[in-house]
Amino acid sequence: MAAYEVMRRLKLDRFAGVVSAGKEARVYRAVGRDGKEYAVKIYLTATAEFRRSIYKYIMGDPRFEGVDLSNTKRLFFAWARKEFRNLKRMYEAGVQVPKPYLVYQNIIVMEFIGREGKRAPLIKEVYKELDEEELVNVFNQVFENMKRIYCCARLVHADLSEYNIMYLDGKIYIIDVAQAVDLNHPLAMEFLKHDVETIHAFFADEAGLDIPSPEEMIREITECKNVQCVKRRVDE
Ligand SMILES: Nc1ncnc2c1ncn2[C@@H]1O[C@H](COP(=O)(O)OP(=O)(O)O)[C@@H](O)[C@H]1O
Ligand SMILES: [Mg+2]
Repeated sequence: MAAYEVMRRLKLDRFAGVVSAGKEARVYRAVGRDGKEYAVKIYLTATAEFRRSIYKYIMGDPRFEGVDLSNTKRLFFAWARKEFRNLKRMYEAGVQVPKPYLVYQNIIVMEFIGREGKRAPLIKEVYKELDEEELVNVFNQVFENMKRIYCCARLVHADLSEYNIMYLDGKIYIIDVAQAVDLNHPLAMEFLKHDVETIHAFFADEAGLDIPSPEEMIREITECKNVQCVKRRVDE
């Protein structure tokens, strides 16, 4: 079984509970022999909605050439690989994402974002507990990281929202990057606009912050001025 191969390769001691059971994927917490924690995302079920929605993210992507999309297993292997490569590309460009460790078949292993066995909250789950200064800090980090994704990793997340950003000790982590596309993708600008509108609606309307308009945000992101592209390597 694939999970055993992953455990062997990363010297994992045990799986220690389900962190999240989504429609397509489950996320587990795993613990290494050295006590280090990992997040293990396993793609399991291809819903009809997933099959329908996936097409627009993979068209023209050479990584999917020749993959029989009706074969669920193959589809998930390719999808997990795409998520891992997007995560690695973002991580290496200095985007605040969990550090990627391994992809094997339908399984991705990355840094566990949390403390003492508990995952960190999503910003959707904590924003009401934060004061305005801290909320502004969170928005600034999200905005800066949107610029890094675009300008440094040359990607668009394409599913960015308050549900795909975690918050730990004052720092944000962007997650769930499978559907991210290269800037050359024909719908990249459309996806960027959607991401910006979603983030804007959350911080302006729901959290009540005074932030730049969506048009201004798009302009700033695509201008790529003064963006901190940090270079770091994931050793393989
Ligand atoms: N690296 C991680 N560390 C801790 N928890 C994580 C990590 N990645 C994901 N999670 C948890 O699992 C949930 C689902 O992960 P996500 O990648 O968003 O998949 P889905 O496609 O199911 O939304 C997240 O909302 C978060 O609570
Ligand atoms: Mg998600």
